[in-house]
Amino acid sequence: MLDAIYIHIPFCVKKCDYCDFLSFKSTKEERKKYVDFILKEIELYPKYNYNTVYFGGGTPSLLEPSDVKRILSKLNINENAEVTLEANPKTVDYEKLKGFKEAGINRLSMGIQSFNEKFLKKLGRLHSSHEGEEAYFTARKAGFNNISLDLMFSLPEQTLDEVREDLEKMVSLNPEHFSIYSLIWEPDTKFFEKLEKGEYKETDNDLEASMYEMIIDYSTKMGYEHYEISNFCKKGKEAQHNSKYWRNEEYVGIGIGASGYIDGIRYKNKMKFTDYYDSILIGKKPVLEVEEVNEEMKEEYRHILGLRLLQEGIIPSSTEKYLEIYKELEKDGFIEKKLGRYILTRKGIFLANDVFEKLI
Ligand SMILES: C[S@@+](CC[C@H](N)C(=O)[O-])C[C@H]1O[C@@H](n2cnc3c(N)ncnc32)[C@H](O)[C@@H]1O
Ligand code: SF4
Repeated sequence: MLDAIYIHIPFCVKKCDYCDFLSFKSTKEERKKYVDFILKEIELYPKYNYNTVYFGGGTPSLLEPSDVKRILSKLNINENAEVTLEANPKTVDYEKLKGFKEAGINRLSMGIQSFNEKFLKKLGRLHSSHEGEEAYFTARKAGFNNISLDLMFSLPEQTLDEVREDLEKMVSLNPEHFSIYSLIWEPDTKFFEKLEKGEYKETDNDLEASMYEMIIDYSTKMGYEHYEISNFCKKGKEAQHNSKYWRNEEYVGIGIGASGYIDGIRYKNKMKFTDYYDSILIGKKPVLEVEEVNEEMKEEYRHILGLRLLQEGIIPSSTEKYLEIYKELEKDGFIEKKLGRYILTRKGIFLANDVFEKLI
């Protein structure tokens, strides 16, 4: 049953030096216009009943609460649905956060990245460590009782102690959920340029593994459940929307560059505003490319997404191809059976990409 919708908001105040997400600078008028088209695009899809709504970006918190309300009013949202908005600390104050809450947002995902001024600067973030923390407390005051924080690690020249300090600071804030991502060196970013010029260098593999190990050990000791490779939560506070991706469930994707998965077809929307607007103006879904997911591909997706869920894992397939692969992965200590399902072992968690490669 399709009950999830992702809405892409492709605007940022300024591009961070490591990020290649689809986002642009914008004026208030451009953002208004974009929301007008989001409303029109929603009309091109059947009226599903949603249990999860996710505003991702870019920086959705750049929108006005009234615009978020316009979008949410267009959707059939079930009672108790999870309605998340990604927020950048620099773009929110009490009034705005209260406005988002009143508009129907009940979960915030805040991009903190680090509490260390040196790294915030390096990353090209606009907020200070204090502003990051303040934004979190302001969100609490505005009534949010479900907050996720994003942190990054394995940053250029970052030490194990510096990662520990960031993690301890974040955990001391007591968020319901957090995501912690090891830096990906994306081509076409300032970071990548500096890597190529030799100004930055990649973190040594062993050090990165020690960082990840420390993150897992400390977070679980402090009462967080490590439920997905990069995600931790308090009991019952898993990200419901993202969990649907990992369970390979279908969802609607709205906005430029957004992906969706409906009726066995994965699609990606147009990436340029003009193309996106032109399609919608003639009443056509602004889809750039589609991929029909046959049974074999569905199994591949199910495996590589499902194994990311560390407690839940996957129901084993009975096809010969997979039985062979499981046997080998089990023998090498990458996966294990738990209550009739396969999950990654600790070794498998650290070498997850190698495991996924074997499954495709
Ligand atoms: C859309 S942003 C979150 C909201 C908001 N735009 C912000 O940055 O505050 C999604 C998250 O992806 C992560 N991210 C982006 N680029 C990354 C990269 N190159 N490597 C690892 N994590 C990255 C960051 O942690 C970021 O918070
Ligand atoms: S990390 Fe967030 S704020 Fe920075 S460029 Fe990417 S989407 Fe925008």
